Amino acid sequence: MQLTEQQRAEFHEKGFLIFPELFTPAEVEVLRDEIRRLGPVETDHIVRERTGGIRTIFRVHEDDGPTQSAPFRALSRSSRLLAPAMQLLGDDDLYIYHSKVNTKVAIEGTVWLWHQDYGYWYWDGVPAPNLVTSTVLLDEATEQNGCLYIVPGSHKLGRQEPYADEETTSYKQWTIERERLVELLDQLPKPVALAGPPGTVAVFHCNVLHASGHNLSPKNRWQIYVVYNQVANRPNDVENPRPDYVRSVNFEPLRIEDDTALRAPLPVEAAGLR
Ligand code: SIN
Ligand code: MN
Repeated sequence: MQLTEQQRAEFHEKGFLIFPELFTPAEVEVLRDEIRRLGPVETDHIVRERTGGIRTIFRVHEDDGPTQSAPFRALSRSSRLLAPAMQLLGDDDLYIYHSKVNTKVAIEGTVWLWHQDYGYWYWDGVPAPNLVTSTVLLDEATEQNGCLYIVPGSHKLGRQEPYADEETTSYKQWTIERERLVELLDQLPKPVALAGPPGTVAVFHCNVLHASGHNLSPKNRWQIYVVYNQVANRPNDVENPRPDYVRSVNFEPLRIEDDTALRAPLPVEAAGLR
């Protein structure tokens, strides 16, 4: 999938692009089945809310490890995600920094505080803010079920120094001081709600300010994130690096691959194999 000149200009101006229903309902269902399969796995790659429900399943894009998944691996190498990432980063040699499924369970799923992803990835040793994240909605995302909000143009601010919040949720989150956030959100354009049907994709710059609220609704908000980095921008060594499932050490350049693994096997009859 190739982006137009206009789409590239829009990305550079706003820091994100949205592609409604880029994946079909059948493809989304294959990915949803994978989340159901991975849920019971006992591993530190799965983070829970304080109340017990699953918050995040990390590292679903590889063919090894406890949360490996052939369909999510295919998604991450599909031309629909990988080709735009290559174009936006101006580099054919990308690797996956990490992947995660945020399950934001009905009623229980909690907030993601305002942050820029590169705020902390800088402390992971990543030299430059040359990463993009592609996210695919695997449920209908709404304002009520805690859809993602993205602030247009906020990537142009450059990196704002974050601090670690270990109180608000079960997961340590890097966020920006309240006074600075109020100042920024007062000045910047209104946040855009990433609401829409399953299969919708957004790709956003690693310095874009984003957040999402509590899931107040009776519907889950399942969503996959795949982060692409340039192989040339791999992290420098740091003391006590974070684990591989959040700061991958697989720097092998990705190639666009066939994504038929996203299609459910045909029923025997339809496949003509009576
Ligand atoms: C994130 O920014 O890392 C996740 C936000 C969300 O899933 O709502
Ligand atoms: Mn983020």
